[in-house]
Amino acid sequence: MHTSVLLKEALYYLNPQQNGIYVDATFGAGGYTKAILQHTECTVIAFDRDQTTIPTAQKLQLEFGERFQFVHDKFSNIMQYISKVDGIVADFGISSMHVDDASRGFSFNKEAKLNMQMGKCDISAFEVINTFSEEKLAQIIDKYSNEHLAKKIASMIFHARKKQEIQTTTQLANIIYEAYNKPKHYKIHPATKTFQAIRIFVNQELEEIETLLNASIDLLKPNGRVVCVSFHELEDRLVKNFLAENSQKKEKINKYSIEEKNQENKPFEVITKKPVEPSAEEVRLNPRARSAKLRCGERI
Ligand SMILES: C[S@@+](CC[C@H](N)C(=O)[O-])C[C@H]1O[C@@H](n2cnc3c(N)ncnc32)[C@H](O)[C@@H]1O
Repeated sequence: MHTSVLLKEALYYLNPQQNGIYVDATFGAGGYTKAILQHTECTVIAFDRDQTTIPTAQKLQLEFGERFQFVHDKFSNIMQYISKVDGIVADFGISSMHVDDASRGFSFNKEAKLNMQMGKCDISAFEVINTFSEEKLAQIIDKYSNEHLAKKIASMIFHARKKQEIQTTTQLANIIYEAYNKPKHYKIHPATKTFQAIRIFVNQELEEIETLLNASIDLLKPNGRVVCVSFHELEDRLVKNFLAENSQKKEKINKYSIEEKNQENKPFEVITKKPVEPSAEEVRLNPRARSAKLRCGERI
């Protein structure tokens, strides 16, 4: 079961209007889509690359008819399906269904064949772990997770697979655990960061987000909003930098007036000056929400 994160806040910032057309770029369990459709008489076009979300989409189709359309594809292909919309919401990363389904190979404490593909991908975690060079592995682990033991972990993977293919999640988790000198107490499992890095690489998650953000410039009608919920620093930084680079800078002229720094035509106004984070109550009820950050920009 997936509990939507920052649901009320995402709805508030998206601000759906009657007869508007909205994109839910990450349908998942349909929590955001359903809330938008229930909020007002509008249309939602939802995307998800994972085919296991199709049955939920079919149920919503029955409930909301033509007001709901589902596209089983990556959101980076959005321009192939849509021209102009009134708002875009995205809730990045994997869902609880991915983690709960051991067979998908996302979780280091559930034995499964290494996979980590959210949908159709060019490569699986198994191929990355068993065929990439030691240097490339170290580079991926470092780049996508900032793991301070990236080189050591890559070296241990490289030597372990010479003896025997690394087939499963728990085999990989054990190698990482060894690289950490078998810590007795840890706040987060030593394998957390490396698993995150491999998953991001396999699914090209950061490239996907960059493409969606860039597409939003052309897709959004004036006053249309892009609302993004991120779960780790790499995702949030992309959204933050995108909005900063594409919005008019305001400059304090004196203590009475703030003026636009330059009159270059920047497409967005930043609505959330600081990221919106979940309340302590939401984190208590759904610990997965603890690292979530929401940012919103409005098309000028
Ligand atoms: C965190 S869940 C979304 C949950 C949803 N907001 C809800 O309330 O139920 C993220 C979903 O986005 C999908 N996803 C991730 N990256 C994607 C991409 N690049 N294109 C399409 N779907 C993607 C995943 O398959 C997953 O189902």
